[in-house]
Amino acid sequence: MWWRDAVVYQVYLRSFADADGDGVGDLDGLRTRLDYLTALGVDGIWLNPCYPSPGADHGYDVADYTGIDTRYGGLPAFDRLLADAHARGLKVFMDLVPNHCSVEHPWFRAALAGDPAARERFIFRPDRDGDPPNNWLSVFGGPAWTRVGDAWYLHSFDPAQPDFNWRNPEVAAYFEDVLRFWFDRGVDGFRIDVVHMLFKHADLPDWPHHPEYNILAQNQPEVHEVLRRWRKLADARERTLVGEIWVPTVGDLALYLRPDELQQAFYFDLLVCPWDAARFRDSIDRGLEQVVSTGAVITWTLANHDVHRAVSRYGLVSRTGGPDTRPRGTVDVELGVRRARAAAMLVLALPGSVYLYQGEEAGLPEVMDLPDEARQDPTWFRSGRTEHGRDGCRVPLPWTAAGPSFGFSASAETWLPQPEWFGAFAIEEQMSRPESTWSLHRDALRMRPGFEGPLEWLPTGREDVLAFRRGDMVCVTVFGGEPYPVEHGTPVLASAEASAGAVAPGSTAWFRR
Ligand code: GLC
Repeated sequence: MWWRDAVVYQVYLRSFADADGDGVGDLDGLRTRLDYLTALGVDGIWLNPCYPSPGADHGYDVADYTGIDTRYGGLPAFDRLLADAHARGLKVFMDLVPNHCSVEHPWFRAALAGDPAARERFIFRPDRDGDPPNNWLSVFGGPAWTRVGDAWYLHSFDPAQPDFNWRNPEVAAYFEDVLRFWFDRGVDGFRIDVVHMLFKHADLPDWPHHPEYNILAQNQPEVHEVLRRWRKLADARERTLVGEIWVPTVGDLALYLRPDELQQAFYFDLLVCPWDAARFRDSIDRGLEQVVSTGAVITWTLANHDVHRAVSRYGLVSRTGGPDTRPRGTVDVELGVRRARAAAMLVLALPGSVYLYQGEEAGLPEVMDLPDEARQDPTWFRSGRTEHGRDGCRVPLPWTAAGPSFGFSASAETWLPQPEWFGAFAIEEQMSRPESTWSLHRDALRMRPGFEGPLEWLPTGREDVLAFRRGDMVCVTVFGGEPYPVEHGTPVLASAEASAGAVAPGSTAWFRR
């Protein structure tokens, strides 16, 4: 089971590399950089959705589940990518979006045209004296309902993303066909979007406790039956399913990881953890308990296309607002890079699998200062331009220090503008510098297999220092500002230089005993 300790690289395709010069990343752009990924040393990639889509939520509004958007190169480009990735031993995961589709999906068009069978595949409810059928809110802001004629349809996200009615067996059958289609084409697995949201409370009652997490709109027991069927499909072909699941407790998460459900689910608890030794240890411990209860492994991640980049979360020195995953305020980039390097090494030493979001290997900061007129995230519009949203972690990657769009595209016009300072983080330039954040990731990926077996915490005598061993490897992280002298064996790799026999402040070091 290759995935149990795999490192999977998340490709936000629009922003990875552009081959055809239109300023938007594409599959051929990715394919011509597969050697980059093997040089970094990852085991596979997860591709954000690249199906035909009007792009209201950049691909998370799917119009055709068995096609590839021609702007990304269409199915032929996808097949070329799959073949070239497999030739290099890289696995390829797609992104399955089963909670909702696009308003352009043929089923929803038929529903709007009045076809009763098509309407049953979505969640339409009558008007309540001019009000929506209940008081639920959309994740992107505003009501979760949009009116068409004398009825309303439910959309947990943007109005352009109508929710499917998972209580209709036609919907379930459809997604099983979709899985089979891509598995037959050679796809190695799926990241599954907002798995916990497929089912809502059958009666759709009002949620009385606004604005807290609406338990009526998600995490309903019926979802587990669906996952059991998907797992059978995956197991029959040795494929892997990893869930995106935001639920309140690790116990809730563990239910999705029972032996006949998903193999993996992102452990977001650590992603939202502030830079604090005790909080990190507590989060890791709670994650490890989950493993004990299900036999699954933990799927660690410190960043993705929905949250602020790790550098900017860990480097935040004063906070002015924003949600926990996307705090705003003043960022000390140097401090953030230092801590993000330490956090990456800590996570790469833990038991389980790690997902690495593109650009994190180069210590890329969040672009906090995108011009308002450039913003595209529906969150920005649905919140009345108060919540800035997720565009800042989706800015096209800088590959070179100069040139149009820093080597991302032949065009200087990229779909989100790159800031001037991006060149300082150029990936190709970092590849030739042994002390760069990129080189640290490559070295850590090479040495990570040295960590074997269960984690055992070691006493450190300091509240701001965490140390653990796995087999004969030891990982020490200093969260605070003072160096930490160690007696843990031969130094193997360090995220910051220290004087002999010490681990530097705000850094992680690996030792072999
Ligand atoms: C998930 C995706 C996010 C998307 C949302 C709706 O949270 O990660 O990018 O906007 O689902 O599909």
